[in-house]
Amino acid sequence: MRIITNPQVFQKTMEALREKGKQIGFVPTMGALHHGHLELMRRSKQENDVTAVSIFVNPTQFGPKEDFRRYPRPAARDQKLLIQAEVDFLLMPSVAAMYPAGTALFVDLNSEQDGLTQRYCGQTRPGHFRGVLTVCAKLFNIARPHRVYMGAKDYQQTVVIDRLIRELHLGIKMVRVPTVRESDGLALSSRNIYLSPADRRRARALSQTLQELQGELQRGKRNLKALLQDARRKLAHSVDKLDYLEAADPVTLEPLAKPQKHMVLLTACTVGKTRLIDNVIINLP
Ligand code: PAJ
Repeated sequence: MRIITNPQVFQKTMEALREKGKQIGFVPTMGALHHGHLELMRRSKQENDVTAVSIFVNPTQFGPKEDFRRYPRPAARDQKLLIQAEVDFLLMPSVAAMYPAGTALFVDLNSEQDGLTQRYCGQTRPGHFRGVLTVCAKLFNIARPHRVYMGAKDYQQTVVIDRLIRELHLGIKMVRVPTVRESDGLALSSRNIYLSPADRRRARALSQTLQELQGELQRGKRNLKALLQDARRKLAHSVDKLDYLEAADPVTLEPLAKPQKHMVLLTACTVGKTRLIDNVIINLP
């Protein structure tokens, strides 16, 4: 695996490979890699000639009171995992290299015209998706891959990135990879290491609640509002703070009042001091 810190060098390297006709798959991450991340790389390796990964803890997507400083950065361990996964290239840029003129330029969705980045995680984390859109625009431009691999775990993020790709005419295909989970259902996340053993047990409530709701909808229950209210009440009991639990259209993320054939159930909760998110995609017969 070749490790590159300079974005221009990385860009030239990818360009040369593209000119040779190589198909390039790109997996953006913030490191502290786990099996969820590795699944994205496995998919990329199946579908491309070259797989490139970035590790960059992006300051602009963290709020002032969030965990940017204490976000885990186990660089040596991450590199070992990437070598084992047979990843070809790793981009590890500095903040200064990614934001050469500071943070004056942003890519954002106009919230008055489009609520996508304002609701769910966007409401609790103002500016978060602006940071994600900006860094992904930069990273995609540096790598100019044929395909990018993103986890369904961050469902709203995949919808936002889909918009970025379409509206900036980036000509990249986004592949949404299903969420990788622990055996008890908890979605893998770099933030799970913050959980105390007791909090870790309580964290199961997110996936359990989603699974129960999914079951009820698939068994034909149709009173979505009441189902959600009931599930919210139970979930709020297990976690320290329920941020949201909603049913939404999987493409627009508009909240739903009634069940429809294709839906996504989305939740975010705080357990201890850790904010966790999860979702499940539902396709009714
Ligand atoms: P990060 O949280 O490191 O996640 C990198 C990618 O791994 C994302 O696409 C995320 O959805 C995916 N991922 C995380 N946990 C997963 C799981 N359990 N199963 C499947 N995929 C999973 O998301 C980010 O970084 C950043 O916002 C980024 C896109 C890199 C921009 O800074």
